[in-house]
Amino acid sequence: MSKWARSGGRTRAWVAVAAAMLFVGFAGVSIAQAESFRGVGRAATPDEIKAWDIDVRPDFQGLPAGSGSVRLGMEVWEGKCASCHGYFGESSEVFTPIVGGTTAEDIRRGRVANLARPDFPQRTTLMKLATVSTLWDYIHRAMPWTNPKTLTVEEVYGVVGYILHLGDMVPEDFVLSNHNIAEVQARMPNRDGMSIRHGLADVRGKPDVRNVACMTNCAPSAKVTSSLPEFARGTHGNLMEQNRTIGPVRGVETIPQVRPGPN
Ligand code: HEC
Repeated sequence: MSKWARSGGRTRAWVAVAAAMLFVGFAGVSIAQAESFRGVGRAATPDEIKAWDIDVRPDFQGLPAGSGSVRLGMEVWEGKCASCHGYFGESSEVFTPIVGGTTAEDIRRGRVANLARPDFPQRTTLMKLATVSTLWDYIHRAMPWTNPKTLTVEEVYGVVGYILHLGDMVPEDFVLSNHNIAEVQARMPNRDGMSIRHGLADVRGKPDVRNVACMTNCAPSAKVTSSLPEFARGTHGNLMEQNRTIGPVRGVETIPQVRPGPN
């Protein structure tokens, strides 16, 4: 028996001690980390992390089980959404419309034909959206704008179903649920319309924006401004009068009104 094998018992004991020390060590690290922020908050609890972890993915991972009818959705929509987005999703304020611009042929084909028309006045949400999970996720986390995260799971299913109904994708007696949402995905008008393959030749299928996080000598802050230069105002007439036919998005008034003088 070799010296190594004979000392096997002791070796195992050492491994156990080392493992225990490692464990204590790890625990020590997390305590030290928490302590290094002493007075600044505390470690998040598992329940808190769960409350933040609400993303719903295109394969529906993260989607809470449940259902909601189009009828319930209509009540939610009219009570909590229509004031900003319009009764039929046409938008009653400055926001772009949610519904409009899609056809039965788009639903069949999975591509929205109006997106290819430069003369089409607006791009609505249903025209651009490729994944129904995004609609569910976004409404659940961010809407109503003034009161996000207040809708129940049932209300979110209902209101998503209602929007889909306004877009003629589901009938008015439909009940959207985690069981049938994949079938609805197969009816999204622009489900096959999102791709990076059709980019310009110099993009070659890759994203055309590549940002690298600045870690040293970074500019303290970037000032982003956007305005229409004085000389360009009026070049294309009054933009305010040209914008959209689906609901009222107001453009900038580029031709100043002649107002009566003081005398
Ligand atoms: C007080 C006004 C207001 C109310 C009420 C409101 N929204 Fe919105 N909604 C907005 C604004 C503003 C945005 C754009 C927010 C942004 O881009 O950050 C938006 C964006 C959206 C979008 C994404 C549109 C897109 O194409 O990007 C959806 C979908 C939506 N809202 C649904 C709803 C639903 C459903 C409700 C009711 C439960 C609701 N909203 C209530 C103001 C509102």
